[in-house]
Amino acid sequence: MATRKLLLLPGDGIGPEAMAEVKKLIDMMNADFNAGFETEEGLVGGCAYDAHGQSISDADMDKAMAADAVLFGAVGGPKWDGVPYEVRPEAGLLRLRKEMELFANLRPAICYPALAATSSLKPEVVEGLDILILRELTGGVYFGEPKEIIDLGNGQKRGIDTQVYDTYEIERIAGVAFELARTRSNKVCSMEKHNVMKSGVLWKEVVANTHKAKYSDVELTHMLADAGGMQLVRWPKQFDVIVTDNLFGDMLSDVAAMLTGSLGMLPSASLGAPDEKTGSRKALYEPVHGSAPDIAGQGIANPIAMIASFAMCLRYSFNMVEEADRLEKAIASVLEDGLRTRDLMSEGMTEVGTTAMGDAIVAKYKALA
Ligand code: NAD
Ligand code: IPM
Ligand code: MN
Repeated sequence: MATRKLLLLPGDGIGPEAMAEVKKLIDMMNADFNAGFETEEGLVGGCAYDAHGQSISDADMDKAMAADAVLFGAVGGPKWDGVPYEVRPEAGLLRLRKEMELFANLRPAICYPALAATSSLKPEVVEGLDILILRELTGGVYFGEPKEIIDLGNGQKRGIDTQVYDTYEIERIAGVAFELARTRSNKVCSMEKHNVMKSGVLWKEVVANTHKAKYSDVELTHMLADAGGMQLVRWPKQFDVIVTDNLFGDMLSDVAAMLTGSLGMLPSASLGAPDEKTGSRKALYEPVHGSAPDIAGQGIANPIAMIASFAMCLRYSFNMVEEADRLEKAIASVLEDGLRTRDLMSEGMTEVGTTAMGDAIVAKYKALA
């Protein structure tokens, strides 16, 4: 059995609580199914700042670069509101994304059948929903220069962020969108704001050219990102793959989370380009939600987004497709049984804490094997 090297970065707030449930799965898969996972742990976010003044150390960065995959919990919280911008908790995550060149962020929004009534939208709007938001993750306004606050000297300051995209960055994310669409319902909707942004004009043009050159079998539509947000809550099932930039993707995926019942349900995979020789790619898997300081330490966080992120890791980093399917079935099945963390609670259901939800998924996985 090949060794599968995982770096676990639990982070802050509910990050470690959710990661503990994935650790149980890893231990069970090693013990009962000889999965060969070898895990190491590192510090990221506020806990790393507290330990050594950086939001991720060079040593942990090296571990991330050397791992087959990184599992990431969540970072941030009010405790670190006052720390210098460069070392704020979120900077650790941004460094991982940039240095590992994780340009493709897959954020699937799937409404599990048992949760159709849990969404804040009408059940018929979300029932059977299975869409994928593909967010560009290493460019745009998150990383563009200049990025600064300058003193104008007249009692005024100016805050500057710069939205920048080069052709190659748009081409490669568009390529991933079309490739993914071919494995799904073969439709891509590209979202930008070419009506006000130069980067939006280029985005639309490059996506269209990439489509024409190599992917004309896939259905392509374009939508302004603000209208896209509206359409996501009006009739989300019109979409298959949505490809968009870093900032729009951040916002639209939080919107999409509520179509599935809770932000605690949405997993993600952040992938780099496949290595030309080996075909392997750098990858980090993380829930879409944050450290949820309002519920941290109470044992009530929903661990499903983190567990489903591990399912994506099995699928994309280790080609363990059967195991990934089984884990997703186990999640669906505990929800069918009526188990709910508080964020998903509705009448007639059984409320469980983080640990009990994790235990139920582990037991179900074993039962389905
Ligand atoms: P958040 O995602 O942490 O929380 C938003 C709301 O959703 C809260 O009410 C929270 O209780 C709830 N929620 C989130 N995840 C949940 C779960 N698994 N189970 C149950 N409820 C859940 O967003 P926020 O409050 O805007 O941000 C808090 C901190 O997290 C900030 O410092 C932010 O920068 C950071 N953040 C980090 C990440 C990340 O690490 N990937 C992502 C988003 C936000
Ligand atoms: C996310 C988060 C991050 C982002 C933060 C924590 C840097 O909101 O992954 O969605 O803005 O990308
Ligand atoms: Mn976000």
